[in-house]
This record gives sequence, structure tokens and C-alpha cells, in this order.
Amino acid sequence: MAIQKVGVLGCGLMGAGIAEIAAKAGLTTVVREVNQAFLDKGLGRIRASLDKAVEKGKLEVGARDAALANLTGTTEFSDLADCDLIVEAIVENVDEKKKTFAALDETCKPEAIFASNTSSLTITQLAMSTKRPDRFVGLHFFNPVPVMKLVEVVRTILTSDECVESAFEFARKVGKEPVAARDNSGFIVNRLLVPYLLDAIRALEEGVGTVEDIDKGMQLGCSYPMGPFTLLDFVGLDTTLYIADIMFEEYREKRFAPPPLLKQMVLAGRLGKKSGRGFYDHAKK
Ligand code: CAA
Ligand code: NAD
Repeated sequence: MAIQKVGVLGCGLMGAGIAEIAAKAGLTTVVREVNQAFLDKGLGRIRASLDKAVEKGKLEVGARDAALANLTGTTEFSDLADCDLIVEAIVENVDEKKKTFAALDETCKPEAIFASNTSSLTITQLAMSTKRPDRFVGLHFFNPVPVMKLVEVVRTILTSDECVESAFEFARKVGKEPVAARDNSGFIVNRLLVPYLLDAIRALEEGVGTVEDIDKGMQLGCSYPMGPFTLLDFVGLDTTLYIADIMFEEYREKRFAPPPLLKQMVLAGRLGKKSGRGFYDHAKK
């Protein structure tokens, strides 16, 4: 099925990026948030990102205006009824996601494809909250969405070949390089990345080095674009904790267990860049 109209659920860090690249690729895009304040914030983030691309000479003014004309925001599920594809990027919570997909299943046209951008939940458990598990797939984008080239396309044992083909086609249409991944919690990238990030926190707890020195070590010693603590702040410590809890529950392996310091940071409201403070003080910058 050719995808022409895309619905995006959630206009946070990831949803805003996904809506931006879909609209930029010429697709009619509707993004849904839980309330007008969150929607306005998310749409503002998309406008700022497009404006920055224009300033940097990476996007023509006309292309920015065309992207914005393709994009609408809503707080209603009913505005997603005629979408060909829905990409969900809401909070990493299984009950919230299941509830949302079940509601959408009643609203959206039967042939529409549902996709989740989950970092760690299995696609199978989300697909089973709908009556369309054959048209349900994982589309896992990376942060920051406008920059990172990869999308993991995750099929379950129930996903149809046609649905997988459409997902690959969509990923290429929005300028990404898709890879196929099995429906194991964390797929390919997070299975490797999450233990590394959690281990950096354990190294800090054990006094191996400071936040700055551990970051510098991995940046200068391994040429990683960001050290682990900069990346943790960037991803969001709340999201990282949800992911670690889910992956630990799934695999029961110590490498996925959330370190106490991560829990403390989240309890203390230090969520990273999004709250102004995480391992670094972003308000100062
Ligand atoms: N939106 C759009 N463009 C952005 C951007 C954003 N949020 N952030 C940076 N950019 C662009 C910049 O405009 C710049 O473009 P040009 O080179 O064309 O000018 C380019 O990206 C590089 O940016 P900067 O020069 O400002 O900074 P940088 O060189 O440090 O790169 C970065 C920034 C691309 C984010 C880089 O630091 C990086 O790759 N970091 C690692 C990101 C990463 O690992 N992401 C995966 C997170 S895990 C995940 O997503 C999965 C999960 O489930 C949790
Ligand atoms: P975020 O907290 O920045 O944004 C989530 C947004 O979803 C919030 O604005 C919230 O108001 C909204 N929301 C919650 N319930 C909703 C609903 N029922 N309908 C519409 N909107 C709803 O989180 P994020 O970092 O964008 O993560 C979103 C998803 O993407 C998660 O599943 C996460 O695991 C995944 N992910 C995150 C990253 C990352 O680096 N942060 C990378 C890849 C994938």
C-alpha cells in the first residue's frame, strides 16, 4: 500500500522528529498529543528545527513552508481515522501503549498500518492489543530523528510481507536506511547500547572516573560522537530507566538492571536535557 497520510502519536523528543521528516518528505502528516500545551510545545520544536535547517542552508525556505503546510496537530484520535500509517512515539509504558493502540484500532481504517517506535517493548505484545497484528510492525527511529540515518524495521511472526514491504518503503521515503530486526526486546541497537550506558553509570558509582572523564574517555578514546553521560542526558534518564526496567524484566540479566543512581536521578527529577538537569547542568549552557 502506498503511504500518503501519516499519523504520529506523541510530539515529544521522538514524535516531533518523526512528524518533521514525514512532512518534509511530502506526506500529509497529523501529529496527536494528549493536550494543547504539549502539542504547541512539540509543534514549536518542529518549526524551530526546520528554521534551523533553513538558517544552515540545508533546506530551502519553500521546502520548509511546504513541510509546514503538510503538517497538522491535533488532540483527537478521530483526526487520524483516514491515515495509511500510524507511528506511535508516546511514553515507554506498555499499558499506555496498549490502551492507545486499542483505541486507535476502533478509529482508524482497517487497512491502515500501525507501527511503534518503542525502544524495548516487544512489538508482539503491542500488536496483540489490536485486531490487526498482521498490519503491525516496529519502526524504531534514533535520536535526533532528523539526523540519524537508521530505522530498525521489526516484524513479528504475525506481520504480513506486504506490511513489512510498506514499512521499508516508508523508511526510505523519509530518507532513512532501514535494517530488519527480530522482535527481541531492544532489537539490535539497544541490546548493545543499553548495557553500555548502564555500565557507564555503574563505573561512575564505583568511582572509576568522573562524569566528564568517562565521557572524554569514550569520545577521545573510541571516537564516539558523544560520551555515555551526554548521551544519557540526551535520550532522557526517565526513558532510559523505563527501557532498563523492561529489558531486565525480559532477560533477567544483570547487564540490563537499572543502577540505583539512575533511579535516584529520575526520582529527583533530573531527567537530562528535557528537564534542564541530568548528569550535566543544561540550564547553564
Ligand atoms: N535536529 C536536527 N538536526 C540536528 C539536531 C537535531 N536535534 N542535532 C544536531 N543536528 C545536526 C546539526 O544541525 C549538524 O548539521 P550540519 O553538520 O549539517 O551542520 C549535525 O547534526 C551535527 O550537529 P552539531 O555539529 O551541532 O553537533 P555534533 O557534531 O556533536 O552532532 C549529533 C550532534 C548528531 C547528535 C552527534 O553528537 C551524535 O551522533 N550523537 C550520538 C547520537 C546517538 O547515539 N543517538 C542514538 C541515541 S539511542 C536511540 O535513539 C535509541 C533509543 O531507543 C533510546
Ligand atoms: P518524550 O517523553 O519526549 O515524549 C513522549 C510524548 O508522548 C509526550 O509529549 C507525551 O505527552 C506524549 N503522550 C503520552 N501519551 C500519549 C498519547 N496517548 N497520545 C499522544 N501522545 C502521548 O519521549 P520520547 O523520548 O519521545 O520517547 C517516545 C518513544 O520513543 C518511547 O517509546 C521511547 O522509548 C522511544 N524512543 C526514544 C528515544 C530517545 O532517545 N528518547 C529513541 C528511540 C525511541
